[in-house]
Amino acid sequence: METITTDINTLGDYLCGQGWLKKEERVLAVETPGAGNMNFTLRVRTNQGSFIIKQSRAYVEKYPQVPAPVDRSLREAEFYTLIDQYDILKAQMPKLRGVDKENYVLNLEDLGDGIDYSFLYQKERYLKESELEEIMAFAVNLHSNIHLGTTDIKIPNREMRRLNHEHIFVFPYLQENGLNLDDIIPGLREVGNIFKQDKVLINIVQQLGERYLIDGKTLLHGDYFPGSWLNTSGGIKIIDPEFCFFGEPEFEIGVTLAHLKLAAQPQTIIDKALKFYMDRAPLQKELCFQFMATEVLRRILGLAQLPLSLNVEERHTLLQEAKEILV
Ligand SMILES: Nc1ncnc2c1ncn2[C@@H]1O[C@H](COP(=O)(O)OP(=O)(O)OP(=O)(O)O)[C@@H](O)[C@H]1O
Ligand SMILES: [Mg+2]
Repeated sequence: METITTDINTLGDYLCGQGWLKKEERVLAVETPGAGNMNFTLRVRTNQGSFIIKQSRAYVEKYPQVPAPVDRSLREAEFYTLIDQYDILKAQMPKLRGVDKENYVLNLEDLGDGIDYSFLYQKERYLKESELEEIMAFAVNLHSNIHLGTTDIKIPNREMRRLNHEHIFVFPYLQENGLNLDDIIPGLREVGNIFKQDKVLINIVQQLGERYLIDGKTLLHGDYFPGSWLNTSGGIKIIDPEFCFFGEPEFEIGVTLAHLKLAAQPQTIIDKALKFYMDRAPLQKELCFQFMATEVLRRILGLAQLPLSLNVEERHTLLQEAKEILV
């Protein structure tokens, strides 16, 4: 496997070999397009424009000691292939310009240096209603257009799902998982232990985990949270479907609602998100809330931490609310 580098000459040769440079096109510069953890992502600037290169490797880019499915970018490519006949979905994603299956590299349209919505976790940053609608519309359109009734293609993406399963349904509840919660915010360890010792809660979470692993009918983005929503001059764009799979829409919407809670968005925004979706597509509300609760628990107690601005009491309240939904 060829490892992509930031060296302009080597990179130029590689891109040329793939047929990804036009006749007189030359690489002028490369830059990091934004904060990512999982993959090697580059913005390539040429004398004729720019594009994004994303390579998946057998490990997590930011933590090379942590293994990850090497071919995950091909699952991401499959997602782009499946949405290809739906203009309404394509309009909200970058165009996939090329795939190098041998080296697990995607060539994506550059959406410009718009920031993602992670700023929502900061204090007093709120989603506008029009933005919320763009975000929920993509999910509704995805779920209502691409399902077993409309396509024979399946993306089990089992390895990525297994990885995510560990992070969502297993690690957060281990007494020792390599993470000292007090390092995140003092006092969180003691609070966390209340939930890590709750056998009834853990049992219910485990059952939801089994449900996440079962193949469902509907194509999900699989990682639908503020880090996958880009704010661009052309509206909100959705990126990074590497965790996509056919599952239950309740998982996707539950995750989305959880992040609105973790970002301390007003309850009216959360209600509106749910209403927008449920006015347009079927959803089992109770199951959706259960997945929401599970995502809240894992983002506070698990390894995949977020830049939250909640104090320890606020986190405790969210954990308690989540528990009450589940138990
Ligand atoms: N098509 C694009 N146009 C412009 N910027 C992009 C594009 N794709 C990705 N980026 C930028 O690069 C960052 C990382 O991309 P992406 O999320 O796809 O990588 P990742 O390694 O899977 O990240 P993560 O670890 O968060 O899953 C994004 O947050 C965004 O800022
Ligand atoms: Mg990713």
